Amino acid sequence: MGFPVDLSARFLHVIVAVLLVGGAMFTRFVLMPAAAELPEDEHTKLKERIANRWKRFVMLGILVLLVTGFYNYLAVTAPAHKGDGKYHMFMGIKMLLAFVVFFLASALSGRSKALEFFRRDAGKWLLVLILLASVVIGLGSLLKIRGNPNAPAAVVATQEESN
Ligand code: HEM
Repeated sequence: MGFPVDLSARFLHVIVAVLLVGGAMFTRFVLMPAAAELPEDEHTKLKERIANRWKRFVMLGILVLLVTGFYNYLAVTAPAHKGDGKYHMFMGIKMLLAFVVFFLASALSGRSKALEFFRRDAGKWLLVLILLASVVIGLGSLLKIRGNPNAPAAVVATQEESN
């Protein structure tokens, strides 16, 4: 669709990933230990107030990551990596793990009774979410820097030199 749209899609993808994963890390390593010292009823009220606000960020964030991620893949990177099986394999793994992360984020910030199981042990599942999201970010970085066998020889040589 052109440079400005491609750049905006990547920018939005990265900034929303920073916001959501940063928010999860802050919650797990700063907010949860600090709030655990509160009396039980205050703790419960605070959890509810935070969940009500945070779930809007989670829902909108998931939508932005999906739209920008699929745009970037289908319109930009997949055509550039035609025939590069490893690229599509790693991208498939990245997507599957991202879907697990989205599921956990929705379960932890939502109110569904069926997913209460995850909220009962929120500290553990938030840690799982952070670990999986870190793998997703690692795969995103790998896909970016591993180079493109379809790129012109001069570009491939420069990429190999700098690795
Ligand atoms: C937990 C959710 C996700 C996180 C935290 C995440 C994070 C990232 C990060 C940090 C990058 C590297 C950007 C760069 O180096 O410029 C990236 C790249 C990318 N992501 Fe995601 N992402 C997520 C979900 C998705 C989803 C659902 C898709 C859907 C297809 C997707 C598609 C892509 C694509 C196509 C790239 C570009 C890879 C390349 O440079 O070749 N991402 N992502």
